[in-house]
Amino acid sequence: MHGKWWKESVVYQIYPRSFCDSNGDGIGDLRGIIAKLDYLKELGVDVVWLSPIYQSPNADNGYDISDYRAIMAEFGTMADFNKLLEQLHRRGIRLLMDLVVNHTSDEHPWFVESRRSRDNPYRDWYIWRPGRDGREPNNWASLFGGSAWQYDEATDEYYLHLFSKKQPDLNWENPRVREAVHEMMHWWLKKGIDGFRMDAINLISKAPGLPDAPVKTANRYQFPGPHVFNGPRLLEFLGETKRRVLSHYDIFTVAETGLVTTEHGLDLTHEENGPVNMLFQFEHVEMDMDDSSDSPRWNSKPWSLLELKRIMTRWQKDLEGKGWNSLYLSNHDQPRAVSRFGDDGRYRVESAKLLATFLHTLHGTPYVYQGEEIGMTNVAFPTIDDYRDMETRNMYQEFVEEKGIDRTVVMAIIHAKSRDNARTPMQWDASVHAGFSAGTPWIKVNPNYSEINVQRARTDPDSVLHYYRKLIRLRREHPAIVHGCYDLLLEAHEQVYAFTRTWKNERLLVILNFSPDAPVFALPSHIHFTNKELLIGNYSVDTGEDINLLTLRPYEARVYRLR
Ligand code: GLC
Ligand code: CA
Repeated sequence: MHGKWWKESVVYQIYPRSFCDSNGDGIGDLRGIIAKLDYLKELGVDVVWLSPIYQSPNADNGYDISDYRAIMAEFGTMADFNKLLEQLHRRGIRLLMDLVVNHTSDEHPWFVESRRSRDNPYRDWYIWRPGRDGREPNNWASLFGGSAWQYDEATDEYYLHLFSKKQPDLNWENPRVREAVHEMMHWWLKKGIDGFRMDAINLISKAPGLPDAPVKTANRYQFPGPHVFNGPRLLEFLGETKRRVLSHYDIFTVAETGLVTTEHGLDLTHEENGPVNMLFQFEHVEMDMDDSSDSPRWNSKPWSLLELKRIMTRWQKDLEGKGWNSLYLSNHDQPRAVSRFGDDGRYRVESAKLLATFLHTLHGTPYVYQGEEIGMTNVAFPTIDDYRDMETRNMYQEFVEEKGIDRTVVMAIIHAKSRDNARTPMQWDASVHAGFSAGTPWIKVNPNYSEINVQRARTDPDSVLHYYRKLIRLRREHPAIVHGCYDLLLEAHEQVYAFTRTWKNERLLVILNFSPDAPVFALPSHIHFTNKELLIGNYSVDTGEDINLLTLRPYEARVYRLR
């Protein structure tokens, strides 16, 4: 089981629209990515995950695909793609593609056909239902707000869309749909790509009969969670995909799975019979959602370190030796980690390094999201006009226009939670538009780019960037980071997260102060050692220091090797 390359890898996620624009049209593109491959090599990552680059009308920035076998014109051509793949492989970097098959764009030819008539051969490729008492077929809410059903006049029926109405859900019950998806996957794999990140994949099997969701709020539409996530045929559908497609290649898959428990996690990633290799669970990025409100996604509550420990420890221990974890704190759907879990003001550098240490020393495969490696922060655009994300704009509309909530209140929520926090252009240097584009970027750059950018980070030996490089290197040098068994220490400490990773005769001790204070760390008496070596830390440390009792500095992180 050991020696699987994806366990030893660090993945770097690129959001192509915001990474690097090569031709000045304000939109990041494939040639822009190619121009930055040496930067990624220098960082030391093993795999690049590209958010969708397929042809798309861009209602959801490429997560609404109208042709799975064509490159979005704004991003370049298939020749550019081939070159990108070749240039990555030449540098020993693998390529993970996004696979968005819970839904297509409503402009995909399958859907264009499907909506034509009730007896069209493609009708049953999507989920169509007649209305109920002149309204939607059931009470499901879309995950992006409003009803999950869209009425279509041509045939007097509704189609299901768990995301926006521009993203109709495919009907996975139909074997022809599954075959078409499999064929498309083979087509990309034969080009030589190294795996898939499977978008929203645990939504593909819906509860038979599409029953109403339990009524929990006064809203007209209700969260359909239990009827759409982890449905009855999920493992069967993915097992078939593994048998018919995935198992024929030396690749890996990571499944994006909301609302999963560690039991689901084991079923999905089990070394012997799990259909995928790892998954993105959401518990730790949902800690700060207020479940008691009628829109938890937009109502925050403070998160606590004790809860973070409970969640991470449960995932670490339940999958140990059987399945495999993915480790992430940020991606294109989440606010910036340093703003959310650290301190993006006074202790930006220290806390970004602390979070990096956390991510890279747990058991699993770490994912770095573009800009995280230089400590990029959230943005606070003054008005909704500067926001581009459809989810954010819909929410603004609903909260301000329909619910009548005060604009400044709504903007404050957007500043904390909008997905656009992660989508402002990559900050390359201090020149205009942060070196991202010679034209006008499709979304404004974060005004802090003159201080936070790659060029500056490169020349500063104490930068977050250099720290990431070192962490990534450590993974190669210490098998305990990849394989070691995780054990939590000081379970009840409210500011310090500490754990060990043990592999053969090597033991790593990780000490993380998640606070701006100076808490005391006392080494539990069952940890014995005769020799200690500091592998990495975000402050300078006196080598003779006694680690049995330490007063930590704000956001201090240390990793020791004990023998
Ligand atoms: C996933 C993607 C997100 C997208 C959604 C619908 O959650 O990460 O960006 O909006 O699926 O495809
Ligand atoms: Ca461009």
